[in-house]
Amino acid sequence: MTATLSLHGISKSFGGLNAVEDVSFDLPPAVVTALIGPNGAGKSTIINLIAGIFAPNGGRVMLCETDITALPMFRRACLGVARTYQTPQMIHGLDALGNVMAGAYRFGSHGLLTTIFMPWVVARENSEMAERAAAALRKAAVPEIWWDRRAVDLPYGIQRRVEIARAIAQGPKILMLDEPAAGLNPAETAEIGELLIEIATDGVAVLLVEHDMPLVMSTATQVVVVNFGRRLAVGSPTQIMANPEVVAAYLGADVSADDEVFA
Ligand SMILES: Nc1ncnc2c1ncn2[C@@H]1O[C@H](COP(=O)(O)OP(=O)(O)OP(=O)(O)O)[C@@H](O)[C@H]1O
Ligand SMILES: [Mg+2]
Repeated sequence: MTATLSLHGISKSFGGLNAVEDVSFDLPPAVVTALIGPNGAGKSTIINLIAGIFAPNGGRVMLCETDITALPMFRRACLGVARTYQTPQMIHGLDALGNVMAGAYRFGSHGLLTTIFMPWVVARENSEMAERAAAALRKAAVPEIWWDRRAVDLPYGIQRRVEIARAIAQGPKILMLDEPAAGLNPAETAEIGELLIEIATDGVAVLLVEHDMPLVMSTATQVVVVNFGRRLAVGSPTQIMANPEVVAAYLGADVSADDEVFA
């Protein structure tokens, strides 16, 4: 099956530090791929390279066989690249619904002239975007009592879900989540896992960056491991758990693969 997204030998350095070095992997559609590795391994940098926040020093990013390496961030978003952040990034002055509508903006087409001379077109589009946002909030299981509350007043777990809803409202081909379970309790974490599988089932290529190993192992079909900016291993969760190099990278020591690193 054709990959939704492919990285071909992507590299990024900051000054003298090679944060990502010659990394290649594919994101197939309709499954969750986990990207794991110790702190500072380059996971968030890889997300930022795919999203277009950083330009790579080398390599290519292909989306559905189109080279998007040189495209700016907003063009990639329009083509279907969506993401959430390691620390939730909400527009504080807007309520939850407004934040999610911001994700649906690419489905609006009106410019200044339409706004002035055909306001009814704008009103219709706005209500379509509100409906799209409401559907995304429902999918992300954000209870309606929170929809009209300002982002700053939302509990942390709800902010995480609203961010996922905003990404869903973009109608993404790929959805990248940077540690979506950070700060959540085990029950909330399990719910996020179920949501990610549901999103993938709709055909989206999901990239999950996560330190929570039970979440990774219960959701991912494919696991990519990075260490010191380089790709260390790719395989199924079972293959990765049994890989001594991966186990050693996590513990920073020579240990047996039988040790319970991923419990
Ligand atoms: N904007 C930047 N400027 C300079 N160095 C950076 C920048 N972003 C990341 N780095 C460095 O690149 C390396 C990889 O960082 P990155 O944030 O990608 O790691 P990570 O795998 O996401 O780690 P964590 O699990 O702690 O989130 C680190 O050494 C980090 O300090
Ligand atoms: Mg990170």
